[in-house]
This record gives sequence, structure tokens and C-alpha cells, in this order.
Amino acid sequence: MGDHGFFLDHMKKEDHKKAFAEYAKDWCFSFAPGRIEFLGNHLDYNGGEVLGMAVNAGIYCLGVPQPHNQISFFSESFEDSGWSGEIDKIERQSGKFSWNNYTLGVLKELHSQNLTPKKAFRLIFTSDLPTSVGLSSSAALELASALTILQLAGKSLPKKELANLCRLAENEFVGLPCGILDQGTSAFGKKDHLVHIDCDDEVFGNIPIPAESEVWIFNTGIKHDLVDSLYSTRHQECMDALKEGRKRFPDKDKLTSFSLDEINELNLPENLRKRATHVSQEQLRVQSFRTGLASNASPEELGKLLAESHASSSQNFENSCRELDFLAEHLNQHDAVLGARLTGGGFGGAVMAWTQSNFSKKDAKEIVSLYHQEFGQEIDYHNFLPSDGARKEDILKVEPDSNQ
Ligand code: GLA
Repeated sequence: MGDHGFFLDHMKKEDHKKAFAEYAKDWCFSFAPGRIEFLGNHLDYNGGEVLGMAVNAGIYCLGVPQPHNQISFFSESFEDSGWSGEIDKIERQSGKFSWNNYTLGVLKELHSQNLTPKKAFRLIFTSDLPTSVGLSSSAALELASALTILQLAGKSLPKKELANLCRLAENEFVGLPCGILDQGTSAFGKKDHLVHIDCDDEVFGNIPIPAESEVWIFNTGIKHDLVDSLYSTRHQECMDALKEGRKRFPDKDKLTSFSLDEINELNLPENLRKRATHVSQEQLRVQSFRTGLASNASPEELGKLLAESHASSSQNFENSCRELDFLAEHLNQHDAVLGARLTGGGFGGAVMAWTQSNFSKKDAKEIVSLYHQEFGQEIDYHNFLPSDGARKEDILKVEPDSNQ
């Protein structure tokens, strides 16, 4: 506001708003939520079905047109590591500047599709998403950036194309071979609903989550240094298992379409057999959960599928660790927990628990205290609501959600 501050301070609140609206009339603002992987571990890039949940926290992105030709990014969370440069000189960043790659990848994709504004701009990010919790702040950053840049350009994209563009940015520019779960869930989130994605046909939908249930996150805080390379290894193992499988069943084009009997016929090396077993059985669990919800199966029955999912990730996909197993085991034994499992890529990160609404903060603290006794570490926990997906926001109306 600069020199106008004194006058604005002496105006009534409504006048403030009017003056600000006039001052900021070219500014654009968006929000994209983080996500919880509800069920369907490592199925997205295997052409399976997944269930995600957009949470009531995420990343906000403000876009302000600039008079010169320098584009720049600033984030409250990484104050001294923003980026500035020109649109045709985008290069991959490293070290403390790596967070810029998600936005740079999106910018590059939008530019290649002629969807960027003529004028330069500054993007300012703020977040109410707990960091390093495995809630996919990266996808939220990509979607919030894309929506704001598109607005600055006076353009828009359908949700499906938006999610795909952001995934492409992550695959090609950031270099992680992720599937569509994170970007799809952030784009298609809906209050009181899960996001169902058929990753093969790329069909996105919403299904209501039973009322009287809640979702909690327990964060081990562990981030394996090799997490990206371990993710890529699992991805490659799945591709190798599919390649082997197609020698015997040439009509199949995705690992999720193999039955357990077919996998056992293949004579795969042990690691590939385990990965394929997980993928095949996890796919059945997602389908049972979805059909169970539609036919009003009891949440207790459905919750068991989440516990089974964790056991399979741990034993067959081998992307769990002692800390995640400990949390999943204790949560799954709790009376008010319907089902608990590791969520997201794995190798550290968080466990999600789907609970009845009588699961309380006191219960959560007991789990945290058990973890402390075992591992000597304080961990954090959060309670989230299924929420709406990425969207343009009105800068004068937004107030971050305090319900966490
Ligand atoms: C990460 C990836 C997703 C998905 C999950 C595992 O979150 O970004 O695409 O593969 O892991 O299900």
C-alpha cells in the first residue's frame, strides 16, 4: 500500500475494501488443497482406481502483474530462496531453491501451450498446510500456481486438463514419475466426499464419505533421503513385472488387470512377484470399498480394507518402515479407529486413520505418547475434513480454515 497507508487507516472498513479492490484490480488469487491418499497405494501409475481426499488446508497463490519483464516467486515459508528470471530462460533449481521447480515446471508447460500472460508477474505463496506430512504440498503448489498464472493470462482450463498439465510438469521438469492421484485429488476435491479416480481411463468422480467419520494424520516426520529414488525403483519394478506378465498375457496393458492366480503363474523374481501381488490385491480392495460404500456396508467392515492395505504395503510393496508399522498397528487396534494405513509414497511420511467421530484429541495424544515411548520422538497429528478442490479465490473474502 506504500504511501497510501495513512489514509487507508483512517477510512471505514468498507471503504478500505473498496480502495483495496481498486488498487488490486489486476491481481489474481487461487487456492489448492493438499490431499490424503485414502486407499489405493501405488495404483495410480499402474492404471488402477484410487480414492483420495482433498483436505481443508492448502496453498494460496497471489499473482501481481509487474511493469518489467522479470517473473518472480516468493514464499513465506522459504523467504530467502525465491526465484526470478525470464520465461524463456527457465532452468531446474537445486538445493534450497528446489521448491521453485514445481512452479517453474508448470510455467514451462503453460508457456509451451500459449497459456501465459503477456506481462511479467510476481507470485506470492502462503500455506496453511503442515509441511513434510505427506499431504502433497507439491501438487497443491503446482495447481495453485497454474490457476493464478492462467487467471493473469485471462485463460482457463477444465479441471482434468489442469490436473494433467501439473502432473506432466512434475514428471518432466521435477523428474518424479508420479501418477495422477495428487493433482487429481487436489483438482476434484469436494466437501464431505472422497475423490475417485479411474487412472486408466482418467475418469474423475466424487463419492460421499459416511457422516460421523473423520480422518486423522499421524506424521512420523521421517523423510528418507532416498525417498524419490525409492519411489522410482518401485515404479520401475511395477513396469518390469508388467513387461514380464505381457509375455504370457499379451492383451493386458496394466498391472492392475492381473489376478493373483495369473501372477503366480508367471514365475516372477521374488521382488516383482511381491510388487505385483500388492498391486493386484490393492485394486480389489479399492473396488470393494467403493461398492461397499454404495451398498451401505458398515464402516467397520470397510475400515478393515484400510488395515489390509497397510499390511500389503508393508509386506509386499515394502514401502513401509518400523515407525509407520507401529502407528498403523496401534491405531488399527483402537476401538474408535475404522482403519489406518500408510498414506502416499511411503518410506517414512504419515499414517492416516479413518475414525469414528468419538476418536478424540485425547486418543490421538495417547498414540503420540506410545510412539514417544518406543522411538523417543515427539510426532504431530492433525484432523482434516474432506474439502473442495482447487479454485480461484476472491482476495477480499478468503480466510484460512482454522478447523484443524
Ligand atoms: C505419491 C505419488 C502419487 C502416488 C502415491 C502412492 O504420493 O505422488 O502419484 O503414486 O505416492 O500411491
